[in-house]
Amino acid sequence: MKTDALKPQVISIINQPGVVIKDKMQAICDLLQSAVATYDWVGFYMAHETEPTLHLWNQAGEPTDHTVIPFGKGICGQVAVSNANFVVDDVHAQDNYIACSIYVKSEVVIPMFKNAKNIGQIDIDSNTVNAFNAEDERFLEWINELVAAEL
Ligand code: SME
Repeated sequence: MKTDALKPQVISIINQPGVVIKDKMQAICDLLQSAVATYDWVGFYMAHETEPTLHLWNQAGEPTDHTVIPFGKGICGQVAVSNANFVVDDVHAQDNYIACSIYVKSEVVIPMFKNAKNIGQIDIDSNTVNAFNAEDERFLEWINELVAAEL
């Protein structure tokens, strides 16, 4: 399985002593983006403490202009409100979608929960259509749980 093989590396990133969680999140983005061929852009958007906006904390891949996303806008903003995983097989079929790159064809956004509150999400873009399946969802849920435990 493409993702199970990465679990030991994710665990070692999380367990690194003396590293702040934001840097661990960056290391996870870098690992996933470089190790999984279809993960072309990987980022964590985290909810503002009081405002209904998501803020880009980390990213690996091409820089994006979309560093702040209002709740409800795009795939990310919808997940901030729905609290549910969003797998997009073909981004061009989506009306409420924010394009970060003309090359992106599919996307997955998995919410992150802390004390049952939706505090942010991991967002992955792929230049391959239909790149994400249930295996990716379980893997990314697992990563979010590890990260949330450190926040
Ligand atoms: N496509 C996302 C915006 C974030 S970029 O993918 C980096 C969306 O529709 O919310």
